[in-house]
Amino acid sequence: MNPAESSVAVLLRYPAADDERAAESFAPRRRVEIARDRVEPRGDAKELRVALVGAGNIARWAHVPALKKIPGVKLAAVYSASGSRGKSYALRFGADYCASDYDEILRDESIDAVLIATRNQHHAAQALAALAAGKHVFVEKPMALTVDECRALARAVRESGKQLTVGFNRRFAPFYRELKSQLARRAGPAVVNCRVNSPGISGSYWMADPAIGGAILGEAVHFVDLMFWLLDSEPAAVSAYSLPTGGEGTVGENNVAASFRFADGSVANLTYCTVGSKTSAGERVEAFAEGLGLATEDFKRLAIKKGTLSARSRWWGEKGYAAQLESFVKSMREGRAPEVTVLDGARATIGCLALMDSARSSEPREIDLAAVMSDE
Ligand SMILES: NC(=O)c1ccc[n+]([C@@H]2O[C@H](COP(=O)([O-])OP(=O)(O)OC[C@H]3O[C@@H](n4cnc5c(N)ncnc54)[C@H](OP(=O)(O)O)[C@@H]3O)[C@@H](O)[C@H]2O)c1
Repeated sequence: MNPAESSVAVLLRYPAADDERAAESFAPRRRVEIARDRVEPRGDAKELRVALVGAGNIARWAHVPALKKIPGVKLAAVYSASGSRGKSYALRFGADYCASDYDEILRDESIDAVLIATRNQHHAAQALAALAAGKHVFVEKPMALTVDECRALARAVRESGKQLTVGFNRRFAPFYRELKSQLARRAGPAVVNCRVNSPGISGSYWMADPAIGGAILGEAVHFVDLMFWLLDSEPAAVSAYSLPTGGEGTVGENNVAASFRFADGSVANLTYCTVGSKTSAGERVEAFAEGLGLATEDFKRLAIKKGTLSARSRWWGEKGYAAQLESFVKSMREGRAPEVTVLDGARATIGCLALMDSARSSEPREIDLAAVMSDE
C-alpha cells in the first residue's frame, strides 16, 4: 500500500443543526484529509493556496504539474464530484485534503484561489460561487455558455474585487506572441486565416455535444479570442455557415466556416472542423498585412516574410499553459488585473454565440461587446 494512503482519514461530517445550509440538504459532506508533513514556503512571500476544482485530464497533465513548480504556491485541496477521483488526485499531487462537496472548498478561508477545470457547463456557476466566497478564479475556457453568465461574472468580479482569468493559453505561447508583436507593427488592417482540425471532438466525446456549446464554445472559442488578441481590435460582425445539422454521425454544428470583420477594418476567417482524419494537421494561423506575411503551425513552426526577406523557426510545441499560470499568480500577488480578463472571456463566448446564431440562420450577426456587457 502507498504509505500516503495509510494516513488518509475519511471524515464524514453531518451538518450541524444551526447551520443554515443544513436546512437545504441533509446529504453528508465528504472531506478526506491527506496527512503529511507540512512544507513551509521559502522566502517571505505569503503562501498562495489554490484548490483544484475538477479532477480531469488537463488538470493532471498541464495545470497541476505547472502549479506545483511555482514557488510559494500550494495545491491545498482538490474538489471532485467523484470521491475516488478527488482522492487519487489529492494523493498524487500532495494536496492537504479532497472534498466532494464544493462548499467545503468555498468555506475554507485559507484558500486564496480556485483553478476550475471541470466540464464546460459547470464553469460559470463554479466561478460565480468562488468569487462570492472571496476566491480568485482561474477558469478553463469557455468561461461561460450564455450572455447572462458573462454579465453575471463581470458583475461578480467587479463587486468582489477578486480576479478572474480564463484559460486562453495561446496568448502565452511563444510563437503566437511573436505573431502578435509582428502584427502590432502593421500600418493598416490585416487579413487573418485560422484553420483548425480537431477530429477528437466528435462522436460521443462530451465536448462534441451541442447542448453544452459543442466544439465551437468548447474549443473554437480559443480562436475567437486569438483573432481579437492578435489584431488588438474588437470583432464587429460574423457571417458563418456550418455543415448540415440534425443528421446522424457528423455533428454539423461543430464544423463551420466563419468570416469575422473587426473594428479596425481587419477581416479573419475561421475554418473549424471535427471531421478530418486523426492525421490531418491541427491548427494553422496565417496573417497578412501590408508587406508582411506570417504563418504558424501547431505551436511548432513560424514563418515571417517581409518584402523579399524570409525567416523560419521551429520550436518544441510550447502551448503556454505554465506561462499563463505563472502570469496569473503574479497578478494575484501584485493585485493587478490578469492578462486575460473577464471581459476577454465574455468577448470569446459572445463571439461564438454570434457565430453559431449566424450559422443557424444563414444571416450575418453584428457583435457589440460593449453594448451587450453594459446591458446588465
Ligand atoms: N486550454 C486548453 O487548451 C484546454 C485543453 C483541454 C481542455 N480544456 C478545458 O479544460 C476543461 C477540462 O477538460 P478535460 O480535457 O480535462 O476534460 P475531462 O478529462 O473530461 O475532465 C473534465 C471534468 O470531468 C470530470 N471527469 C473526469 N473524468 C471523468 C470520468 N471518467 N467520468 C465523468 N466525469 C469525469 C472531472 O470533474 P469532477 O472531478 O468534478 O467529476 C473533470 O474535471 C474543459 O473545460 C476544457 O474545455 C482546455
